[in-house]
Amino acid sequence: MKLNLTKTLWALAATAGLASCATGPAPQAQMAVDLAQRGADVNPTMYGIFFEEINHSGDGSLYAEMICNRNFEEHVLPSGMTYKDGYAVAPHSPNYNTGLYNDWKVQWNPDSLKMVAWNVKGEATYDVVRERPLHPNTPHAMKLVMKSPGVVLQNGGYWGVPMREGEKYDLRFYVNAASYAGSLKAVVRSASGQELAQQTFEVKQPGQWQEYTAQLTATATDLKGTFNLEFDAPGTVYVDYVSLFPQNTFNGHKNGMRADVAQMLADLKPGFIRWPGGCIAEGATLENRVRWKETIGDPMTRRSEWVLWNYHCTWGFGYHEFLQLCEDFGAEGMFVANVGLSCDLRNGDFTTDLEPFIQDIRDAIEYAKGDVTTKWGKLRAEAGHPEPFNLKYVELGNEQVGDYYADRYNYLYNILKAEYPEITFISTLGLGKSLERLKQVDMIDPHWYVNPLFFYENHHFFDNVERGKFDIYVGEFAAISAANMDGALSEAAFMLGMERNGDIVKLSSYAPLIENNNRRDWPTNLIWVNNETVMGRASYYSQQMFGLNVPTYNVGAQLQENLPSALNGMIGVAGDNVAEQYRNLKVTDAQGTVLFESADLSGLKKIVGKPAARPWMTSPTANLAEALTISQGTIELEMRAVRDFTEGSQFVAQGRDSINIYPSLIIGSDKAGQNFFTLNMGSRGQQSVINISRTVNGEGGANRDPQGTPFDMQAGQWYKVRVQLDGVSTLTCSIDGEEVFKQSVSPLSKHYAIAGYDEATGETIIKMINANPEPFTVAFSLAASSVEKVGKVITLAAADIKDENSFAEPRKIAPVETQFNSFGSSFNYTFEPNSFTILRIKSKK
Ligand code: AHR
Repeated sequence: MKLNLTKTLWALAATAGLASCATGPAPQAQMAVDLAQRGADVNPTMYGIFFEEINHSGDGSLYAEMICNRNFEEHVLPSGMTYKDGYAVAPHSPNYNTGLYNDWKVQWNPDSLKMVAWNVKGEATYDVVRERPLHPNTPHAMKLVMKSPGVVLQNGGYWGVPMREGEKYDLRFYVNAASYAGSLKAVVRSASGQELAQQTFEVKQPGQWQEYTAQLTATATDLKGTFNLEFDAPGTVYVDYVSLFPQNTFNGHKNGMRADVAQMLADLKPGFIRWPGGCIAEGATLENRVRWKETIGDPMTRRSEWVLWNYHCTWGFGYHEFLQLCEDFGAEGMFVANVGLSCDLRNGDFTTDLEPFIQDIRDAIEYAKGDVTTKWGKLRAEAGHPEPFNLKYVELGNEQVGDYYADRYNYLYNILKAEYPEITFISTLGLGKSLERLKQVDMIDPHWYVNPLFFYENHHFFDNVERGKFDIYVGEFAAISAANMDGALSEAAFMLGMERNGDIVKLSSYAPLIENNNRRDWPTNLIWVNNETVMGRASYYSQQMFGLNVPTYNVGAQLQENLPSALNGMIGVAGDNVAEQYRNLKVTDAQGTVLFESADLSGLKKIVGKPAARPWMTSPTANLAEALTISQGTIELEMRAVRDFTEGSQFVAQGRDSINIYPSLIIGSDKAGQNFFTLNMGSRGQQSVINISRTVNGEGGANRDPQGTPFDMQAGQWYKVRVQLDGVSTLTCSIDGEEVFKQSVSPLSKHYAIAGYDEATGETIIKMINANPEPFTVAFSLAASSVEKVGKVITLAAADIKDENSFAEPRKIAPVETQFNSFGSSFNYTFEPNSFTILRIKSKK
């Protein structure tokens, strides 16, 4: 085994308490924790899970069904779409946000889709037909016209039919023997053809659908097997709804979840589960939306539907199973309801006839919580659960944005909240302008799929969000560009900010949750599954650490490091067309001495290179004044935005008549032009704003204030910009003599910490992130009436920040629990490189 010596030594030192003795490393920072300073309470169910059928996360992963395309409906067009020239085409309807026609479509090949996972061997003609529907919701069936004995109908499962020696499996299928007089053998074979389990059936009731069931026991293990129906005579049969389930499902439920995958979810200790999505709740078109009523009852009678991640979903993991899973995990339920709008980025078609949608939500609540004498409560009882389920949240739509949606939320909230005051009705709006239209709202749901820098940068994001109007559910977030420890640590840095602001951030869920490793629709998924096993990425373990270490409330915590000013460095401007965008640059030091003055900015050194400016700029260059390295003083400059009508530019191609090139002032750059701040004057979406962003090692785009300060910028007009640097890290910006904002731009140390107190266990919980490749020693002071010396340390660390878990090394990055013997009212602790660490210290206020 290869040992990472540095990592191991630090772990040993920390475990033994060596880090705290006089000979230990000198502290690089101080952290004061004060139990008397009570901060925001933390919602005990804050950390939950987001489930959507994407990446075969349900069918083929969590849902234990082993037969793929069990109902032969895979080729059926998405509801509401029509087939044309190799595409499934959405209805020609205006988009609810833009009023334009998206005319959305997706490639479609019905012939190949008919045979997804199925294969016929032997002398037979075959087709998937609608001649003899088994049930209106599974109208297609496989028709086999067999010319001789020995025909086999084979299913390859979800990348194999996995059988484990000694395990028992429930088989169920339907055959209509139109003209067949033989017997049939259901057999699971290994990849090499060996029989793993089998049962032979005599065919009954010719000309009618007949159900066949059996319990199979595997005689050997093979994870790449096939399921086979083998016929020993010629004739014609129809086959439909072929289902094979392990008996060993999570908590033994029939039609249940794969035990190992569900256990992986349970191990997160989720406070809530969100279901069924995600974009699929909206649908690529409105007709294609998830309809919860079609996901309950006997799975054979559930209509499968194409989901916009491009496969059919069986809905075997339906509304009832979701509620059951919540109960199994002791989690609250969050149901995402369609509100008459399809996905804005797909077709975006909509309806104004909202009554059926409102009634659907009422019925969903009644199914979950209603008395057994009610229509839907009775169905729940008949499904084996007379007790109500704990449905607590209803999200009205998914990821819908804009004023049209805001008005719809207002309308629905007004009706539904009066009827169900106990339900939290979540709005899909994030923190944008449309939020101002909401009259009353329980909770909003911003999403962030961003790079790690954004999360590091925005550790303090929630500190500054206005209070009083809504709670926040961070419903989807992930460092989408970094499926590795860097991503995990950056997410954790952002989550520390959520937890510290527990008065407003009440819920959060990483997204997406699961991928079958044979099918990746989305780059970063928390859990990976194949037929052999299930594993968590580094982000999984960081999420788990949050879920298992929720304090009752935050306590005072100050991490202090002596860092150089973040703004120390060269000054410059971005872009090629300097003469058109900038003039009259004057830089003055704190004493008023003019360091640089130029009307045309000549004398700035041009540094060319893509990352130096921003990739989206037409001319990715930075022009820096090499001689000007100041952190205290004043920068004055005139800047203007221009339109880009360069031939061939994307804007000309789009025929857009709007400002296309925005001026940017660069501050605090290193010589290579790879690390700096940018004061951007320009547009963000439909809004014109001014903001500050940071570029680190050429990777940019993390805005200090993601909202920016609104600023009505006119193309062509010159603006006199004045930036005052205070020598520490505060930057004050005025335009035409008026202060527009003042921002503290902290250095990016990549050290983040919070502290809380767990009343149930009497422990102080300190969470620390060190996203640097060096160890980090901190001198702690813990203001408490008593502190026990011996406590617990949970460390998630990686030798390299780019490391990630894999099927070969599933726990390369996993929490390690150790004991620390030197806690006290003051102690030193050395945190491992690239680590997220939790200290649990028995202590009293
Ligand atoms: O998590 C993947 C997708 O991201 C979800 O379906 C959607 O809500 C978001 O756009």
